[in-house]
Amino acid sequence: MVDAKHQMGQRLVQRENHFLASAARINYYDLVIDHAQGAILTDVDGNDYIDLLASASAVNVGHTHPKVVRAIQQQAEKLIHYTPSYFHHQPEQQLAERLAALAPGDDREVVFGNSGSDANEAIIKFARAYTGRQYIVSYMDAYHGSTYGAMTLSGVSLNMTRKMGPLLPGVIHVPYPDLYRRLPHESEHAVSMRYFSAFKAPFESYLPADETAAVLIEPIQGDGGIRQAPAEYLQLVYNFCHAHGILFAVDEVNQGMGRTGKMWSVERFEHVIPDLMSVGKSLASGMPLSAVIGRRDIMESLAAPAHTFTTGANPICCAASLATLDVLNTEQLLAKSLADGDYVRRQFLKLQQRHPKIGDVRMYGLDGGIEIVKDAVSKTPDPEFASRVIYAAFQHGVVIITLKGNILRFQPPLVITRAQLDTALTVLDAAFTAAKNDDVTLPAGKIGW
Ligand SMILES: Cc1ncc(COP(=O)(O)O)c(C=O)c1O
Repeated sequence: MVDAKHQMGQRLVQRENHFLASAARINYYDLVIDHAQGAILTDVDGNDYIDLLASASAVNVGHTHPKVVRAIQQQAEKLIHYTPSYFHHQPEQQLAERLAALAPGDDREVVFGNSGSDANEAIIKFARAYTGRQYIVSYMDAYHGSTYGAMTLSGVSLNMTRKMGPLLPGVIHVPYPDLYRRLPHESEHAVSMRYFSAFKAPFESYLPADETAAVLIEPIQGDGGIRQAPAEYLQLVYNFCHAHGILFAVDEVNQGMGRTGKMWSVERFEHVIPDLMSVGKSLASGMPLSAVIGRRDIMESLAAPAHTFTTGANPICCAASLATLDVLNTEQLLAKSLADGDYVRRQFLKLQQRHPKIGDVRMYGLDGGIEIVKDAVSKTPDPEFASRVIYAAFQHGVVIITLKGNILRFQPPLVITRAQLDTALTVLDAAFTAAKNDDVTLPAGKIGW
């Protein structure tokens, strides 16, 4: 199908398809981005879009933030790279110190890598080394990355397992609490207890707690649909870990760096201090940098070169990260995320009155999962309708994608303006109407995960 507005983009994508392997991209629509600033993307055909994805939550301070750009330029002129495996540079030193202070808990150490995936690999390594135990518990519907260990920890797509086994041994998955699809008349407390029973079931049948090294959880599951675990559930799991000498680890790759109105999403829970925490994505505004921040005694349980990368802690990435942390602070983006998220929630609840396909509206700061369902009673996911909505939005200048097929992923750069949010919501409103009236023709092929 030829689309006059996206001619050059479509041509480029057709050509690209001859050279780029399919495993590397989930297909949504032919958006070829040329440049971006703040919350606005511009494609190669000159169309502007409001970005409600922020490069998968990797540019929380906005695209090409001038302070981040300047930090990158200045560092590039001084030192592009020297491997941290052997020698030292100041951007790495400064960033390690700053992250250790920013993480929940005292007396933290940091290790750097290149991606969220390798940070989660590090969690497996340090947890096993420190405890001398082999098993790791993670969650169904989680996405932890694409390298073997991180992929094994994940549980969100058959394509991350199919044809590639055997995966890492010793990883057990438990279900993530779902507050939306409760049993009839079930209270939040009852949901927590039901899922805590499911969490304990392996430990009561085949998984020795005293051979379990860590539980890894996203306090708000990202690719699992932007849904927060009930506080009581998380506390029960945390207490269980402590009672059995199991480390409690959190993945903040998607949800950290101010996204949810807190620096780290785990800070939305009282009395929960993770032993290990993985960070990436917005850490360096999308430049390749990740980190694990953990208790000093745990982080000292491995000796070099147990976790070192030639291109880890790249000085340009570290400089970008230091600037990003500054911007989060000076522009008070955490508070802005909370206030704007609250505003967006109210707008979606208004839209829900007119568009009954909108099921659950979950917003944690500017971090939203909006369920599109066949109807509010059955809560059956409606991925076909959701695809029509995001495609219509794209055609009218708003970039948004789906999670699990039917959940709108609302994660704009935190610098997005109120006016941009209003425009995006107006476009989404019209997209719902167009989808309902069958006014949207989807391109051939599968859309989404
Ligand atoms: C929660 C979470 N952890 C880990 C990762 C993997 O990060 P990366 O793609 O940088 O390897 C992602 C990426 O989407 C993620 O959302």
